[in-house]
Amino acid sequence: MGDAMIALDGVELTLPSSAGPVHILRGLDLVVGRGETVSVVGPSGSGKSSMMMVIAGLERATEGAVTVGGTRFNGLDEDSLARFRRDSVGIVFQDFHLVPTMTALENVAIPLEFAGRDDAFERAAACLESVGLGHRLTHYPGQLSGGEQQRTALARAFAAGPDLLLADEPTGNLDGETGHQIIDLLFGLQAEHGTTLVLITHDPELAARCARTVKLLDGLIIDHGLSGNGAAAQAAAP
Ligand SMILES: Nc1ncnc2c1ncn2[C@@H]1O[C@H](COP(=O)(O)OP(=O)(O)O)[C@@H](O)[C@H]1O
Ligand SMILES: [Mg+2]
Repeated sequence: MGDAMIALDGVELTLPSSAGPVHILRGLDLVVGRGETVSVVGPSGSGKSSMMMVIAGLERATEGAVTVGGTRFNGLDEDSLARFRRDSVGIVFQDFHLVPTMTALENVAIPLEFAGRDDAFERAAACLESVGLGHRLTHYPGQLSGGEQQRTALARAFAAGPDLLLADEPTGNLDGETGHQIIDLLFGLQAEHGTTLVLITHDPELAARCARTVKLLDGLIIDHGLSGNGAAAQAAAP
């Protein structure tokens, strides 16, 4: 437990709306070990993205404890949280979230520069090279295909050497063939770096590529995916 990459303990997320408070997450308990690959499935609106936002520290839990990489988010100020995220968490979104006014190289390098790395641009170029975009460094997102934009986002997500990668429907905006290439790339990078992976997906085939699948329904985890070998491994863990 102390060695977990992610520990959620009774996590609730309640947000206000004009119709009154909305109970989006209703008490999540989840432990993800270091280096584990976990897919998250569940119907639209079940709280998958919200859970990811809480794990990323982009959304604060209303109740319960969130601990990522041994860092407890509760009580951490915004600056410390942002610093932790920058150094330890890579995030990939369905709609890429690149900065449109920056080139591919700048999109990857600028966060590294903020992190104080002297080699930000060299490292960014190497990362883009590794996702097959060495010939697109000076292109802007608007000049890149969807697949190329997601490759850029993957390069950015892995550039700082994160312990944890969060991916929310990373192939949702891509055609099947391009999506497959992105997923192969994602799992290749994950394996190479031993990154813990939490992958939200609608696609059962894709979910099955992770060692474990967590199922959400209506703001609750209805299956932790720990039957069989997973449960035995979890029970044997220190
Ligand atoms: N900012 C918000 N304010 C109020 N309700 C929200 C907000 N964001 C999400 N929701 C609601 O929370 C529920 C879960 O959303 P989400 O986490 O996006 O689900 P999923 O990713 O599984 O589709 C949905 O009912 C959604 O309408
Ligand atoms: Mg979602």
